[in-house]
Amino acid sequence: MADERLIVALDFHHFDDVKNLVDTLDDSVNFYKVGMELFYSVGTDVVDWLKALDKKIFLDLKLCDIPNTTANGLCSLMNLGADILNIHAAGGYTMMKTAADKLREESARRGIAKPKLIAVTVLTSVNQSDWEGLGYSQLEISAQVVRFAKLAKSAGVDGVVASPNEAKLIRENCGEDFLIVTPGVRPVGSAVNDQSRIATPSSAIQNGANYLVVGRPITKAENPKLAAQKILEEINGL
Ligand code: C5P
Repeated sequence: MADERLIVALDFHHFDDVKNLVDTLDDSVNFYKVGMELFYSVGTDVVDWLKALDKKIFLDLKLCDIPNTTANGLCSLMNLGADILNIHAAGGYTMMKTAADKLREESARRGIAKPKLIAVTVLTSVNQSDWEGLGYSQLEISAQVVRFAKLAKSAGVDGVVASPNEAKLIRENCGEDFLIVTPGVRPVGSAVNDQSRIATPSSAIQNGANYLVVGRPITKAENPKLAAQKILEEINGL
């Protein structure tokens, strides 16, 4: 069984690219992230296809709307059978609580496993100047991330998406059972791309991340399987 702490981001427009990569990575990867780019191009077929291969799925559509719309949107997505769904913590406590309660009630009513619900704190691409541009400069980014994480926890959300640099603080503040999913993971020597608050796979795990979301360092690698294996070796060697 592949180490499910590694989630590979399938950021593609075309189904054929997904098929090629999943085929190439084979048994070395068992968990995939389907985000906006792929879902808006290919639709639900890609989720069905991954499920038929027994792969786990993080459906990263980052819902953020009024409580009723977000909760009902999540219930529609729950039909697809993804293992993790997400919302933006910036939607506020009431939105997160309505969403978490509704997913719990609906999954119990339907007799199906409840997907984990996680909240995006502050995007890992946001840097200090973006942060100040948003008018939030009174608070450090990391302090805002912790604030969002605690709010998400109090609303009954299962965990958060955050930068690996903030994982330690979140773990300290939200306890062992709270899920921490970290994008912005960059092995030594790989391109940073548009990410800002990044760390290596091993430091992300050492800081308390449960899952690493890795896209371009694997999908754009000359040898994606080798790139994935190196990350797995790095985290297994801890
Ligand atoms: O290619 P890269 O490794 O940067 O991909 C990271 C993935 O994680 C992307 O699919 C991006 O949408 C997602 N993500 C992120 N930061 C967040 C939430 C999700 O980078 N806060």
